[in-house]
Amino acid sequence: MILVTGGTGLVGSHLLYQLSLENDAIKAIHRKNSDLLAVKNVFRYFSDAYEILFQKIEWIEADITDIISLEEAFKNVTEVYHCAAMVSFNSKDYQAMCEINIKGTSNIVNFCIANLIKKLCFVSSIATIEKSIGNKFMSEADEWNIGKVSYGYAMTKYGAEMEVWRASQEGVPVVIVNPGVILGAGFWHQGSGAIFSKIYKGFPFYTEGITGFVSVNDVVRVMILLMKGDIVNERSILVAENISFKEVFYQIAQNFKKKPPSIKVTKLMSSFGWRIEKLKSIFTNNPPTLTKHAAKSIREKRYYSSEKIQKEINFKFESISETLKSVCELYKKEIK
Ligand SMILES: NC(=O)c1ccc[n+]([C@@H]2O[C@H](COP(=O)([O-])OP(=O)(O)OC[C@H]3O[C@@H](n4cnc5c(N)ncnc54)[C@H](OP(=O)(O)O)[C@@H]3O)[C@@H](O)[C@H]2O)c1
Repeated sequence: MILVTGGTGLVGSHLLYQLSLENDAIKAIHRKNSDLLAVKNVFRYFSDAYEILFQKIEWIEADITDIISLEEAFKNVTEVYHCAAMVSFNSKDYQAMCEINIKGTSNIVNFCIANLIKKLCFVSSIATIEKSIGNKFMSEADEWNIGKVSYGYAMTKYGAEMEVWRASQEGVPVVIVNPGVILGAGFWHQGSGAIFSKIYKGFPFYTEGITGFVSVNDVVRVMILLMKGDIVNERSILVAENISFKEVFYQIAQNFKKKPPSIKVTKLMSSFGWRIEKLKSIFTNNPPTLTKHAAKSIREKRYYSSEKIQKEINFKFESISETLKSVCELYKKEIK
């Protein structure tokens, strides 16, 4: 029996769809207010038999920070895909991220150890790879340096990785994937999905910052291959291409036949932007749409190498232009 956490999010929902094609024994946890219809909607993108596939999943209400609720979820489970996390660049969310990302992962790890789980796959991030800025390609060998990285999301994802390594020390075979910015269909108004809806509506700004991007299809394909294969106790960067936000935004606009963003965000603009957003959030109590960390990181140029996983499992990533084309097609269909 497979257990998936975070099945109501971008990665988890695409993972559940792929797993449902080959497996009948799948459990997924959801929280009280999770949107299960959004998951079914992802299934609908890819198959006419989406209802039958969706019904294969046994949904269990559980929160990874609540040990009692996890008891039921872990019954008869042999493999675990742990995708649940809180993703935020707002410093106000640091404590909540410690609770969900570190303590929640610690709970998952404890259940994996106690239940002699055959394999655990954890979704981490390139945020835990050392931030050397410039032309050097970062690899799995670039150890994370807390002195250089000081934003909450990265720290808590690194803390979660430490918990996963503890599982491996206690005899649970583990694999960790470290994806770049994940692009995929569904969840159009949150996380990386918001890029598509914003550009469709005419978002005018771009930056020349560069980072690693990857399609959600490739992320879940690699996760499944790693769970089926012999590789254990390794982490793998998942980046199809290192390209600029400008290029990604331009290609999305082209696919939508919309005017591409034309205003380059300068250092001055972004440092004004996050300060104004911070002020606004104090008065409105709404989360800022741009944080100090995000304002800085979207202008930086970082390059990541996925050579290791490509060689290890002979994997070929789909190009980002193919990904953007197919995701934009699904967005257009959805809003018709
Ligand atoms: N998206 C990216 O670009 C990106 C890039 C690199 C790495 N990652 C990593 O990939 C993983 C999945 O990201 P995503 O984009 O799919 O995130 P997402 O769409 O925000 O989904 C997050 C998932 O975590 C669940 N969750 C959050 N707190 C929970 C809790 N306390 N108990 C149980 N479930 C909880 C959410 O459930 P609810 O529905 O109840 O909220 C949701 O299913 C994360 O670990 C993230 O760090 C994402």
